[in-house]
Amino acid sequence: MGEQKKRVLSGIQPSGQLCISNYIGALKNWIKLQDEYECIYLIVDLHSLTVEQKPADLRQRCYSYVAQYLACGIDPERSLVVIQSHVPEHAELTWILNTITYMGELNRMTQFKDKSKNAKNINAGLYTYPILMASDILLYQADLVPVGADQKQHLELSRNLAERFNQRYSPTFTVPEPYIPKSSGRIMSLQNPDNKMSKSDENENNFIALLDDEDTIIRKVKRAVTDSGSEIVFSDDKPGLKNLITLYSCYSDLSPKDIENKYVGKMYSDFKQDLGELIAESLKPIRIRYEEIISEKDYLSKILSEGSDKASYLARRTLSKVYRKIGLV
Ligand code: TYM
Repeated sequence: MGEQKKRVLSGIQPSGQLCISNYIGALKNWIKLQDEYECIYLIVDLHSLTVEQKPADLRQRCYSYVAQYLACGIDPERSLVVIQSHVPEHAELTWILNTITYMGELNRMTQFKDKSKNAKNINAGLYTYPILMASDILLYQADLVPVGADQKQHLELSRNLAERFNQRYSPTFTVPEPYIPKSSGRIMSLQNPDNKMSKSDENENNFIALLDDEDTIIRKVKRAVTDSGSEIVFSDDKPGLKNLITLYSCYSDLSPKDIENKYVGKMYSDFKQDLGELIAESLKPIRIRYEEIISEKDYLSKILSEGSDKASYLARRTLSKVYRKIGLV
């Protein structure tokens, strides 16, 4: 990896099934950015521990996510694929950043407020989660962070922490910029378009997983909530339909306006059938490639060990600098 290229960093929690909202919000840009940037893509297993996980499932899911990254087009020759816990510096830097983060900042995080709303026993990890995310980013001096719109507030905190540390000690961290899709940064649930589509949703009909087969995809789209009326229009008054048109637009080269025109006089059912087929066709090659890769455990392990070796080198460099600046002996 050359020194001159700017750096991209992002990550996904290995919880639930990787789904099309993760692809549209993040992965699609990850793939694109590989042409121009030096990229590091994480599987953030430490983050996923903020919700109780079954150990065997978590282990299997981490491998599955790596294979899905590759199947989608992450190229291990150009980009590093890294399991967060393989580089202990993530946790080490988190402690340092803990000491410069204010409780008030964490209290304001909307994701924490949402996640803790109905939970009885909220663990401290859920609360400090955004600090671990900041350390993922700052550890590698990332310039650009491609994510969905839901991560914007977390990124703002990462920027604030970088600036605070730089001001208090001396310039140390690159202040990262978010990279968020304009019109598709927030894909909504199929059954409940007021909520975002989430890979850890208990109701599988709310999302389309990257590994869903054709029949499942078509069935889920058919069942998706649409609004009353019969016209195919892209409008805030019809959030269910708006979300489906956004998906159609993401999986075709058509703008929402083109899609409206294409379906003048047609029915919701025609539109949904086409959308289901469009998504299924686009996901099929990913599923086929995934099946080839997932059985090659040695290949996956080799990519991960190269990824963590190179990442560790970069991480160590930042962490030594940080320790020195704050006066640790
Ligand atoms: P996570 O695992 O919840 O989601 C992974 C990525 O998918 C995006 N995303 C969406 N985009 C559009 N519409 C949606 N409905 C939708 N749902 C999820 C997310 O924005 C994200 O880009 N905290 C992060 C993981 C993380 C991270 C990092 C990201 C940890 N360290 C460092 C960037 C840099 C998270 O929970 O993502």
